Amino acid sequence: MIKQAIIPLAGLGTRLLPLTSVFAKELLPINGKPGIEYIIDECIDAGVNEIIFIISKKKRMIKKYFYNDKFYKSLIKNKKDPRIIREYKKILKYKKKIKFVYQNKPLGTGDAVLKTKKFITNNYFLMLLPDDLIMKKNCSKDMIKLHKKYKASVMASMTVKKNNVNRWGIYSLSKKIDKNNFVISDVIEKPSSKEAPSNNAVIGRYILSKHIFKFLKKQKKGKGGEIHITDSIKTMIENKFPFIGHKFSGKYLDCGSMKGYIKSTIEISKL
Ligand code: UTP
Repeated sequence: MIKQAIIPLAGLGTRLLPLTSVFAKELLPINGKPGIEYIIDECIDAGVNEIIFIISKKKRMIKKYFYNDKFYKSLIKNKKDPRIIREYKKILKYKKKIKFVYQNKPLGTGDAVLKTKKFITNNYFLMLLPDDLIMKKNCSKDMIKLHKKYKASVMASMTVKKNNVNRWGIYSLSKKIDKNNFVISDVIEKPSSKEAPSNNAVIGRYILSKHIFKFLKKQKKGKGGEIHITDSIKTMIENKFPFIGHKFSGKYLDCGSMKGYIKSTIEISKL
C-alpha cells in the first residue's frame, strides 16, 4: 500500500523570479488556490495519509501557511464568517497529514529525497514535484493501481518536443505492457537532443522503493553540479530494479516557469 508521499519544496525557484525573491512559488495562487493545495488534494484523494514536505529555512512561510492557527482562531471568534471557518477547517485537515523536514542547501532533488529516509516506513512511497500539476485525472491514483498490479516502481511520463528534451529526465523503453505503460530500460537526466534516447520525458510523479536511499547515499553530483534523483534511478534500473513508465491521461500544466505559471492560471480557470 502507498500511504506516504514526499514533496520536495526546497528549490530556489529561479525561473519564477522576481516573485520567488520573497515568496515560495508553491504558495502562488493558481485560480485563487495555492499550487501546493492541488498537489495535497491529489495525494489525499489517492489514499495517502502522510505527506512529507522537504522545505528549507528560506521557505518557512510554507510551514506558517499550515500553522497559522492563532490568526484564524481570533478572526473566527470576532467574525463568524462561514467562508473563513471552511477555509480554516481545510487547512487543519491538511496540517494533520503534513510533516516537515529540512534541506537547507539546495544540493539537488536526490539530496532532498535523502532527507526523508528516516521517515519512510513502507517499502514504497509516492513522490510528487509541485511544479507539475496534472488536472482532470488523478495521476497518483492511477500509478498506485499500476504499482499494486506489477509490484514495481512507476514514473509518470509524457512525450515532449525533441528540441526540449534538455529540460527533462528522458527514458528509453524495453517493452510495452499495454497502450499506456512501458518497462523502462534506461533514463538520462536533461540530455542534449543528440544524447536523448527518445522524447519520452519523466514528469513529476514517482512511486519509488525504499531501496533508493542506498543509491542516493552514494550518488555523486551530476549535471549542473546537483545530486539528481534521476541518476540514482538510472543505477537502480541497471541493477534490475523494475521501473514502469506510465503515460498519464489528464491535463499537464507546468507551473515552474513564468510562462507556464501564467498559462496554468488561465487553463485551470477554464476547467
Ligand atoms: P527544480 O530544479 O526543477 O526547480 O526542482 P527549482 O529549483 O525549485 O526552481 P528553478 O529551476 O530554480 O526555477 C524540482 C523540485 O525539486 C525541489 C524544488 O523545490 C522543486 O519542487 N528541489 C530542488 C529541492 O527540494 N531541493 C533541491 O535541492 C532542488
